[in-house]
Amino acid sequence: MNPMYREHRRAALDALRSRGAAALIPTATHKVRNFDAEYRFRPDSDFWHLTGFGEPDSVLLLLPALRAGASDRSVLFLREKKRDEEIWTGRRLGLAAAKETLGVDEALATSELWTRLPEFLKGYSRVVYRSGLDDARDRAFLQVLAKLRMQSRIVEPVPVEVLDPAPILHELRLFKRPAELAVMRRAAAISAEAHVAAMRRARGGVGEREIDALLQYEFLRRGAQGPAYTNIVAGGANACILHYVENDQPLRDGELLLIDAGAEVECYASDVTRTFPINGRFSAEQRALYDVVLAAQLAAIADVAPGKAFTAAHETALRVLTAGLIEHGLLKGPLDDALKSESYRRFYMHRTGHWLGLDVHDCGAYVVDGAPRKLEPGMVVTVEPGLYVAEDDETVEARWRGIGIRIEDDVLVTPTGNEVLTRAIPKDPVELERLCERGVLVNAS
Ligand code: GLY
Ligand code: MN
Ligand code: MN
Repeated sequence: MNPMYREHRRAALDALRSRGAAALIPTATHKVRNFDAEYRFRPDSDFWHLTGFGEPDSVLLLLPALRAGASDRSVLFLREKKRDEEIWTGRRLGLAAAKETLGVDEALATSELWTRLPEFLKGYSRVVYRSGLDDARDRAFLQVLAKLRMQSRIVEPVPVEVLDPAPILHELRLFKRPAELAVMRRAAAISAEAHVAAMRRARGGVGEREIDALLQYEFLRRGAQGPAYTNIVAGGANACILHYVENDQPLRDGELLLIDAGAEVECYASDVTRTFPINGRFSAEQRALYDVVLAAQLAAIADVAPGKAFTAAHETALRVLTAGLIEHGLLKGPLDDALKSESYRRFYMHRTGHWLGLDVHDCGAYVVDGAPRKLEPGMVVTVEPGLYVAEDDETVEARWRGIGIRIEDDVLVTPTGNEVLTRAIPKDPVELERLCERGVLVNAS
């Protein structure tokens, strides 16, 4: 049993107890890809955080003890072992092994969920449940609540309020514990190996698709589940399409390659972007803009520290990017006017980062009491400034057009500042040229 998930349940039970709430947390449902083919199953992140259990059709029920002398209970509903079905869809843990393997207090068949749920919810005036994801499940859940409320002779409380998991469970997910950080470091290390392999392989004539395949291969062979999100492998002006995922064009000598790809390990994401010259040499314009983005990223990373606002990194990046655009004649100054008018948005249209964890755009509030949230140790953010000059942007000289650059790292807030989890991946322009030109393997461990 991995003790990390039991610790997560303990923290969740404490948070629930303080609100007098039980919680019903189903895993994800299978999604159809086309006709009768399904996407590969990926558990729901809340469910995974509390169980580390990857089987579909599972539901966790958390029941905090509300009275002295009672004990907290975690009840897992899961699929029963069925030989006929396991031949088709794979091995199942089964009820008998679930308690010991996962450390839950009780294991019941999912087929019993709706009939057993009422008895478990008696005594709780609130229940945490996320609605809106599955109509049939929402209906069954509401019917259970309706039935409970009609039993007017029950002297115990019954749920009169349904709470969303966001303020309770998502706040717990926002702060990563050491065991989670160990997994996130593994994801970062695998991403590092994959990005370096891609840098070594990229050259004119190789396809974006081959680089995409190489990234996936490196992720899988090093123990990741695969990419945490669809790989972006964008040569030349394709980098100006922020979510370019076609990855089907040839790489061209003289252009840059932007790769936004991160490994997923035990459902934890890494999220990394590097941009480098396909032939190992930056042109003057590419290098000029690259230096601006790198300076913006380094300055923004310095703003990731306890007590700083989440938005500080973005504001810092904006200043450095905009100053660079003015210096190179792509924007008109003065700087404060350009910032005020947001004229930079033509070249920089996204934010500089987001929370990172089980979801690549992880949960947790960004605004608290109406103000940008202050960073605290244990939070992980991305820092990802970029510049994108459209191919057809006639407001700038032709030599700048079609250049797209982003540099993205994963940054842990520590008690004294920050730790860049993805620091092993080269981003210094001289180091990048050496690596891409001669295929020298750097230490990316
Ligand atoms: N790869 C998604 C993002 O950078 O936010
Ligand atoms: Mn990102
Ligand atoms: Mn990214």
